[in-house]
Amino acid sequence: MNVLRVDPASPDPAVLERAAAVLRDGGLVAFPTETVYGLGAHALDPAAVERIYQAKGRPAYNPLIVHAADAAAARRLAARWPEAAERLAERFWPGPLTLVVPRSPEIPDAVSAGLPTVALRVPAHPVAHALLLAAGIPVAAPSANRSTQISPTTAEHVRRGLGERVDLIVDGGPCPVGIESTVLSLAGPVPTVLRPGSISIAELREVVGDVVTASADPAGKAARPSPGMMDRHYAPRAVVRLFAPEDRKAVLAEAGEAARAGRHVAVVSFHPASVEGVRTIAMPMEARAYAAHLYALLHDLDEHGAEVVWIERVPDDHAWAGIRDRLRRAATH
Ligand code: TXA
Ligand code: MG
Repeated sequence: MNVLRVDPASPDPAVLERAAAVLRDGGLVAFPTETVYGLGAHALDPAAVERIYQAKGRPAYNPLIVHAADAAAARRLAARWPEAAERLAERFWPGPLTLVVPRSPEIPDAVSAGLPTVALRVPAHPVAHALLLAAGIPVAAPSANRSTQISPTTAEHVRRGLGERVDLIVDGGPCPVGIESTVLSLAGPVPTVLRPGSISIAELREVVGDVVTASADPAGKAARPSPGMMDRHYAPRAVVRLFAPEDRKAVLAEAGEAARAGRHVAVVSFHPASVEGVRTIAMPMEARAYAAHLYALLHDLDEHGAEVVWIERVPDDHAWAGIRDRLRRAATH
């Protein structure tokens, strides 16, 4: 596997042309997007798509997101383009929003895991954008990690997680958003958030009015979440325990005791603290900054052999929904 570095703001066209050729030939290329690194393959080539599932160890029932260079290219992959899609694309693309719409017959079954829909996204990262333009094809790209592990936000995370399973890694530095895109289904009667992300439900409502979340409305009019959404996900190797702000002192004491007993432990909170033998991390109080650091921190804790990580619960408002979701999943073992 090759790792090729590029300047994230103005990537070398020769490197992108090389990566584009690998994609067109049915190979796997990991590349940075504004959210996380993607593991890309030619979306209209079933054999190439199959290689993604193999490399990730991903179950065949979990569909992939197809990335396109612009809204016009994305729209060609939909059988129907609802008016809501038009308005959302206008407002949020390029950017960290994925739209689930009825799929065109051109989309291979493997991409959609047999569903009648396809998930589409136009990434904003200059490297992802330039690569899609150079390739001239739609690119299926899940996060570039082994199934159920933490998504990568650096090329080094990809290299450690996938190694020789990927043909080429384009290293464009750390991903600025840091958690995966918001996934919104437009396939049912009401726009439904299937996966919260950095674009909040409040921002979506400003554009299309009524929006619901799949989890909040299990029996109602919301679209059903895709099978992949129910998996344990984003899980570090360490045991993760979430705690309420008022329990911080007690948690620090418990962590200190565990450290004295020889265990590798860490406490992640919004406040600096110092306890003998305990790795303490103070996170930013602002959701975007928090998201940008979260996965790199979890990768780093795993790398250093943390056995138990206590993480302070984050605020309960819309801006933190994507982070709450990832923390909840990280804590489900
Ligand atoms: O930010 C992101 O979205 C990143 C970057 C690389 O673009 N990609 C990503 O892909 O997170 P992945 O495969 O890790 O997550 C895609 C999610 C899965 O939970 C999957 O179930 C859902 O999107 N999904 C894909 N196609 C779908 C469909 N047709 N209907 C419902 N959900 C779908
Ligand atoms: Mg993923």
